Amino acid sequence: MSTLLTDQFGRFHSYLRISLTPACNFRCTYCMPEEGHPALPSSHLLSAREIIKLVSWLADEGVTKVRLTGGEPTLRKDLVEIVEGIGRIPQIRQIGMTTNGFLLGEQLPRLIEAGLTSVNISLDSLSEQTFQKIARTNGLSRVLDSIHLALQTPEIEVKINSVLMRGINETEAPDLVRYFSNQETELRFIEFMPFGGNHWELSKFVPSAETRLLISNQFELEKINETHDSVSEPFRIKNHPLKVGFISSITDQFCTSCSRIRLTADGKFRSCLFDDGEVDLLTPLRKGADKNEILSLLTSHLKVKPAKHGGHDFSVQTTQRSMTSIGG
Ligand SMILES: C[S@@+](CC[C@H](N)C(=O)[O-])C[C@H]1O[C@@H](n2cnc3c(N)ncnc32)[C@H](O)[C@@H]1O
Repeated sequence: MSTLLTDQFGRFHSYLRISLTPACNFRCTYCMPEEGHPALPSSHLLSAREIIKLVSWLADEGVTKVRLTGGEPTLRKDLVEIVEGIGRIPQIRQIGMTTNGFLLGEQLPRLIEAGLTSVNISLDSLSEQTFQKIARTNGLSRVLDSIHLALQTPEIEVKINSVLMRGINETEAPDLVRYFSNQETELRFIEFMPFGGNHWELSKFVPSAETRLLISNQFELEKINETHDSVSEPFRIKNHPLKVGFISSITDQFCTSCSRIRLTADGKFRSCLFDDGEVDLLTPLRKGADKNEILSLLTSHLKVKPAKHGGHDFSVQTTQRSMTSIGG
């Protein structure tokens, strides 16, 4: 294994998350401003060929897992081509995608054929009204249809992501657990994190411990002591196939074992979700930079990755970019 992807704290980075577009067909309040993002011309985004080239160079250095995200990755017209190209890279063992599910149903069979191995689908509410309030779009029934289609498709691993906000949807956690209790999936509650344009406030923040308590008033949670590379702390609902995971990005920092690196849709390399420092790879790539030049730009940035949370303490809004422009 190459040491190029090891940072100053000895963390090796084998997991690459790629934002395919900052654009999204939803406007989730916790994620992006209501007006959305200024549309970027496609020439400002990494092309399918460029993405595949960068992944193959990073795979040579030890990346084995890729997640496609955004924005909304299903808006990319060349999504199948991207998945297929990454799927042909021998070292890549897992290709996941995070999606709001709205367009997933029609795309899922072709994506699986192309090599997609897992899908995380966001679902923050089972109430049409609350869903609309959060996503600022009507789409609950389509999203649920996609989730059920994916759950019935044995070729793909499915997880559900929920972000809870106080006064909006935090009391729905047990309802979501009940809804999925008989499914072979993991329902993950992600703590609401601060990003540019998402009006994060402590008063809206719901710690995982509180959500866990709320769920355990109605369900018996059994801790799963499995070692896995996920950031979620998993539990099983007694006598049910469902796993419930808590991603405590704020209250339980898991940065010491971070293995994630990121590419933004406009070709910037980021070593940390919360660190605004980034390195442009798109421009040098288009000027003809070769593998060594690109890796050298990227690794000099990775070497100074902060120990945790981009060096922030979350007492104020911290990250300049919105989640959708970085890629969640
Ligand atoms: C940025 S979205 C992009 C992919 C896709 N559009 C989706 O909705 O899943 C990726 C994940 O980040 C989560 N997310 C976005 N903003 C967040 C925030 N402020 N705090 C916690 N999770 C957030 C979403 O719930 C989603 O599961």
